Amino acid sequence: MVKMSQPTSPISVLVAGGAGYIGSHTSKVLSKAGMIPVVLDNLCTGNRDAVQFGPFYEGSIADAALVRRIQTEHNCAGAILFAGHAYVGESTSNPRKYFRNNVTDSVEFLNTLLDCGLRNVVFSSSCSIYGLQEKIPINEESTTNPLSPYAETKLFFEKVLKWYGSAYGLRYARLRYFNASGADPDGQLGENHDPETHLIPLTIYAAMGKGALSVFGTDYPTPDGTAIRDYAHVTDLADAHLKSLHHLMAGGDSLTLNLGTGTGHSVQDVIDAVERVSGLTVPTKYGPRREGDAPALVADPRRALELLGWKPQHSSLETIVGTAWNWHKRKHVQGGEI
Ligand SMILES: NC(=O)c1ccc[n+]([C@@H]2O[C@H](COP(=O)([O-])OP(=O)(O)OC[C@H]3O[C@@H](n4cnc5c(N)ncnc54)[C@H](O)[C@@H]3O)[C@@H](O)[C@H]2O)c1
Repeated sequence: MVKMSQPTSPISVLVAGGAGYIGSHTSKVLSKAGMIPVVLDNLCTGNRDAVQFGPFYEGSIADAALVRRIQTEHNCAGAILFAGHAYVGESTSNPRKYFRNNVTDSVEFLNTLLDCGLRNVVFSSSCSIYGLQEKIPINEESTTNPLSPYAETKLFFEKVLKWYGSAYGLRYARLRYFNASGADPDGQLGENHDPETHLIPLTIYAAMGKGALSVFGTDYPTPDGTAIRDYAHVTDLADAHLKSLHHLMAGGDSLTLNLGTGTGHSVQDVIDAVERVSGLTVPTKYGPRREGDAPALVADPRRALELLGWKPQHSSLETIVGTAWNWHKRKHVQGGEI
C-alpha cells in the first residue's frame, strides 16, 4: 500500500510593524516562500494598503491580550519586531516617546511572546548603534557608541534579547540594518514615510520638483566631500529576515548581523544616480555638516554571508534608485501630483 504523505500546513510568522516599509516588503518575501505573515500594526506610521499578504490585526505590540489572541489563532513559529519609532531627530526632542515604544512596549511584547511559548524572534536593529567609527568597514565586534535616544533604544533592546536568551532560552536574530532603500522590484510596495527623512526618496522628491535637496557637508574626507553610506535594497533585507527565521526555526544559534553591502556611496553619487535614472535635474542646497553625522558608515557584511549565505541581489545603486524611482513615479502620477 502506498502511504500518502500528510500535507503540511504553512508556517505562520507574526510580523509586528508589517504595515511599514521594511515589514511590508518582508511580508511579501515570507509569503512567496510559502509562509503566512500575520501582521500586527497600530498604523502610527504604517499604511493599511501595504498589508497584502496575510491577516491583519490593528493594535499595539503592548496589547498583551491581542498578541495572545493572535498566537492562539495562528500558532506562529516566529516573530519579527519591526514595530518602533524611527526618527533620529525626533528622538532627541522627544525621547520619552522612543523609550516608551522601542523599550517599554517592545519588552512587554517580548514578555507576551515568551508567555505564549514563542521563542524565535528577529529584531530590527540599526547601524546607528555604532555612532562615529574611525575604522571602516564596521564589523559586528566594533564598539557601539549610540549618539541619539533612538540608537540607545536599539542597543538597549539588543541587550534585552541577549539576557532573555540566557535566562529563558529565547533565540534571536539582531539584524543591524545599514540604509534600507529601494522598492519592491514588481512595483507593488515602496517607501511611504510621512514625514520622509531618508536621502533617496528626498532626492527623488527634489527631482520631481518638490523643493531643493539639502546636502549637509561638502568638506568630509571623502572623494567628493559628501558623506558616504551603505545602501541595502529593502528586498535584500527582507530576504535576510527569511533566512534568519529558517536558521532559528532549524535550531541554529542566535545571531547578530550587519546587513549592508560593504560598498559605500556618497550623497553626490545618489544625486547623480537619481538624475541618470529619472532624466531630471535634482536642485540642491549645499550647507554645512550636521552635528553627529559620520563621514562614512559602511558595513562589513561577511558574517551574514558566512552564517546565512546572505548575498544582496538588488543592492546596486542603479537598481535601488531605479526601483524607488518607478514606485514614487507611479504613486505620484496616481495621486495626480505630477
Ligand atoms: N528604514 C531604515 O533605513 C532603518 C534602518 C535601521 C533600522 N530600522 C528599523 O527597522 C524598523 C522598521 O523600519 P521602517 O523604515 O520599516 O519603519 P516604518 O515606520 O515604515 O515601520 C514601522 C511600523 O511599525 C508600526 N508600529 C510602530 N509602533 C508600533 C506599536 N507600538 N505597535 C504596533 N505597530 C507599531 C508602524 O505603524 C509602522 O507600520 C524600525 O524599528 C526601524 O527603527 C530602519
